[in-house]
Amino acid sequence: MKNVVAIDGPGGAGKSTIARLLAEKLNYLHLDTGAMYRAVTLAALNKEIDFDNKTKLVELAKEIKIEFDLTGKVFLDGEDVSQEIRSEKVNEFVSKTAAVKGVREVLVKKQQQIAAVNKVVMDGRDITTVVLPDAEYKFFLTASLTERAKRRYEQLKKQNKEANLDEIKASIARRDKFDSEREHSPLTIADDAVVIDTTKLDIPNVISEILKIMSGDK
Ligand code: CDP
Ligand code: CDP
Repeated sequence: MKNVVAIDGPGGAGKSTIARLLAEKLNYLHLDTGAMYRAVTLAALNKEIDFDNKTKLVELAKEIKIEFDLTGKVFLDGEDVSQEIRSEKVNEFVSKTAAVKGVREVLVKKQQQIAAVNKVVMDGRDITTVVLPDAEYKFFLTASLTERAKRRYEQLKKQNKEANLDEIKASIARRDKFDSEREHSPLTIADDAVVIDTTKLDIPNVISEILKIMSGDK
């Protein structure tokens, strides 16, 4: 699939930041698929849906309208929820939503439709394996758990939000485990994805590494 870049990896590896910057450079659309699972989770919390009620979660995923603008803002049924979808409450439940097969089917279809008509950089957990296995370029970004937790901590501090490094580390580790061990579309490394360990790489270095690979220099 020409003009399609797929990026997967665990939480805090830098996927959405790198995907956004790369999309800007290439003049492609950026689709943060994690934001879609987060939007369904927020809608379920708002409607007080039980996260064990899979049927209701699938119905909800079909019903709601998730939109993005060009600056990366996320809208749920017309309302800007860019901040709310990053809340601790959503972090806590998002992996449960994402483990439901029917929810994944609804969102994967939307993601594939977007890639069919746009040049796109898409990031998530199953983009290289399930959503766009034929993407022209496939990357798996990772970093040590300690580094990823530090990045999240710094991110929250910058926004003047409460943050506890140990709690963040535990929360990321819990979500990684759940996402990697779930039955449907678990987080795995595609055989043909290029793995980039960003533990010691800053953002510009990751971008230049990816651009080198894309231009065939590496
Ligand atoms: O920002 P962070 O990497 O922590 O998470 P995210 O990309 O916003 O994704 C939130 C959650 O959505 C993940 O922990 C997965 O459970 C789920 N997800 C998924 O299952 N498949 C995707 N393609 C993207 C996200
Ligand atoms: O999407 P994902 O959860 O994989 O990570 P992110 O939200 O893009 O990145 C988490 C934080 O790490 C952001 O504040 C990035 O600026 C930072 N980051 C970094 O410091 N060094 C990198 N090589 C990549 C990201």
